[in-house]
Amino acid sequence: MPDRARGPLLVVGSMNADLVVRTSRLPRPGETVTGSDLVVSPGGKSSNQAAAAALLGADVRLLGRVGDDGNADLLLARARAAGVDIRRVERLPDVATGTAMIAVDRSGENFIIVSPGANAQFAAADVVAAADFFADGSVLCLCLEVDLSVVQAAAEAANAAGATVVLNPSPFQDLDERLLRLVDVLVVNEHELADLVGGEALGSPDAPDWERVLEELGSIGPRHVVVTLGSAGAVVLALDAAGAARVHAEPAPRVEVVDTTGCGDAFLGALASRLALGEDPGTACRFAVQVGSFAATRPGAQESYPTAAELDRFTGSLAGARSSAAEVVAEGASRSAE
Ligand code: RIB
Repeated sequence: MPDRARGPLLVVGSMNADLVVRTSRLPRPGETVTGSDLVVSPGGKSSNQAAAAALLGADVRLLGRVGDDGNADLLLARARAAGVDIRRVERLPDVATGTAMIAVDRSGENFIIVSPGANAQFAAADVVAAADFFADGSVLCLCLEVDLSVVQAAAEAANAAGATVVLNPSPFQDLDERLLRLVDVLVVNEHELADLVGGEALGSPDAPDWERVLEELGSIGPRHVVVTLGSAGAVVLALDAAGAARVHAEPAPRVEVVDTTGCGDAFLGALASRLALGEDPGTACRFAVQVGSFAATRPGAQESYPTAAELDRFTGSLAGARSSAAEVVAEGASRSAE
């Protein structure tokens, strides 16, 4: 990874207003169910990542687009309150701010449909025009809720400026190698990983062949792949300087899940905030797992994210019950867990 650390954390990408309804269970196709009152809250994967990192004390800058409507007011006010520098978020006339329709069931599971709105007007030329945004950044966070050309342009600018590029390919779409070559840390869930490398390379679902996964992806670009496993924690796959694979499992604390919306974004924002301080991905992942777990205990995306003080109280209160990421690694044949 590039060795610049301690500069601001950069986030380029999406901002959505989340239109959330809770239901006892998610509807089947063609079915109508009755839910709770509608709650409108700040969301969007990039905006969530930025808020998560800023609430934890990171110096965060966001580059994105909103419309000129009430949802934009909400998003900008909440990002500013979280401590995110939003001076490079532009309001566009005659377009709606991005929205996400979200249903959450009583087990905390969700489905999400995104209407991109202003996020779809964000163009690669806007990134090129914002060259100074990247000048002193230490880490750049990217997701795929904006056009791939925007993601590519941002990764190129950050890479040229010596920053570490962190990509969460969500919502998933095929990635070309030009982008993967610029990525230092790839953060994926199991579904995204299967889409990326194919089921065969993953091996058995119970005992994924992590070394093979890393060989496949590392040969293209990312030297670090972080696989999030929900309540089982996360696994960090790293290629060392000699090209040897290392596998590190980070179990999650057991928590009562209220809502998993935005937990992955909280994880990524927290991970990036620690990479920006110069931590290695394995150490940063331990912190990120705690933040993601905390977020699952409260409703909403950004609404569920902890401040540093709240996280301290949460980690202090944990009884030490840990979940099974270590077992996921241990079950994998012929590989070594650190
Ligand atoms: O990852 C959760 C986010 O996905 C929500 O906040 C929603 O806006 C969608 O972007």
